Amino acid sequence: GRTVAVFTSGGDSQGMNSAVRSVVRMGIYLGCRVYFINEGYQGMVDGGEHIAEATWNSVSDIIQKGGTIIGSARCADFREREGRKKAAYNLISRGITNLVCIGGDGSLTGANTFRKDWPGLLEELIKDGTISQELADQHPNIQIVGLVGSIDNDFCGTDMTIGTDTALQRIIEAVDAVVSTAQSHQRAFVVEVMGRHCGYLALVAALASEADFCFIPEWPPPSNWRDILCQKLSVMRGEGQRLNIIIVAEGAIDRDGTAISADMVKDVVSKTLKYDTRVTVLGHVQRGGHPSAFDRILGCRMGAEAVLALMEMTPESEPCVISIDGNSMVRVPLMQCVERTQAVQKAMNEKDWETAVRLRGRS
Ligand code: F6P
Repeated sequence: GRTVAVFTSGGDSQGMNSAVRSVVRMGIYLGCRVYFINEGYQGMVDGGEHIAEATWNSVSDIIQKGGTIIGSARCADFREREGRKKAAYNLISRGITNLVCIGGDGSLTGANTFRKDWPGLLEELIKDGTISQELADQHPNIQIVGLVGSIDNDFCGTDMTIGTDTALQRIIEAVDAVVSTAQSHQRAFVVEVMGRHCGYLALVAALASEADFCFIPEWPPPSNWRDILCQKLSVMRGEGQRLNIIIVAEGAIDRDGTAISADMVKDVVSKTLKYDTRVTVLGHVQRGGHPSAFDRILGCRMGAEAVLALMEMTPESEPCVISIDGNSMVRVPLMQCVERTQAVQKAMNEKDWETAVRLRGRS
């Protein structure tokens, strides 16, 4: 059997534990030795007890837990070649050459760099006398499969990332709660949601909670957005509505690229329309709590498929990402996804919103 290691990297998300569990159990089922790498790339660089063998039972009772039981980190050391060299040693000395990386685009790009560097890193380790030529020859390269764990759903190449569905659930529960109190006091509420540069959470939450207005980075409003917003809200009130809900993505901007914050929106509504207005910033609540059934099953399916993909890979195989396409698990070249995700950001930086939206879509 092969030796497989699994780690979680970058911001956590609900459903990561389910993916870890599935990698461990599918790996063991297929006769592999499976290792946890604790604390993401930092654990890979530091080695020692951070890299520990997993058992069937070590992943019992985690499918229902939010976060990641094996810890996650944003790691500066791994960005340096010296850090990657230590990581390569820690893996090869345990015979690990199959990796499942659960993280966002930064973490997956790091995995790709690692693979490209691998032969050179081994050469250096041989030169230093740290490893033997024989050991290096047994592990000419490392095979990598990525799973996208992020609440933001900001990764091109998969319809959903692990955690998005749960975050949406958290958001709409919070908005529903806000609606009930807003209703009593005839207030307007501006709710800020996460998503970094991606408006998916904001847009879908707005649709699912019957919000009056929504600001997202991919489709910025013109610079007279204040007038458009006030006009819309006053029409709603004129029709007898007692409250207003406005969802603002944390990365929202206007067409000139100027940030639109929840406080700015609140000031406009309270000063222009004189509505009693409050801001609610949901923050990390969105990233916590029990994963939804969808995210548990998504993590399960992606984890199992990741191990199956690794079993078919050779040292020549390019890294891939397991993605959900419709209702199927598919394998997509990792770099293709990363490049497209970066192209979205580039288009947004260039204020080419149409291209950004097209690239975010499926085809
Ligand atoms: O990528 C997930 C995310 O929660 C984003 O939505 C948010 O912008 C960011 O991470 C927050 O990062 P941190 O947890 O480091 O504050």
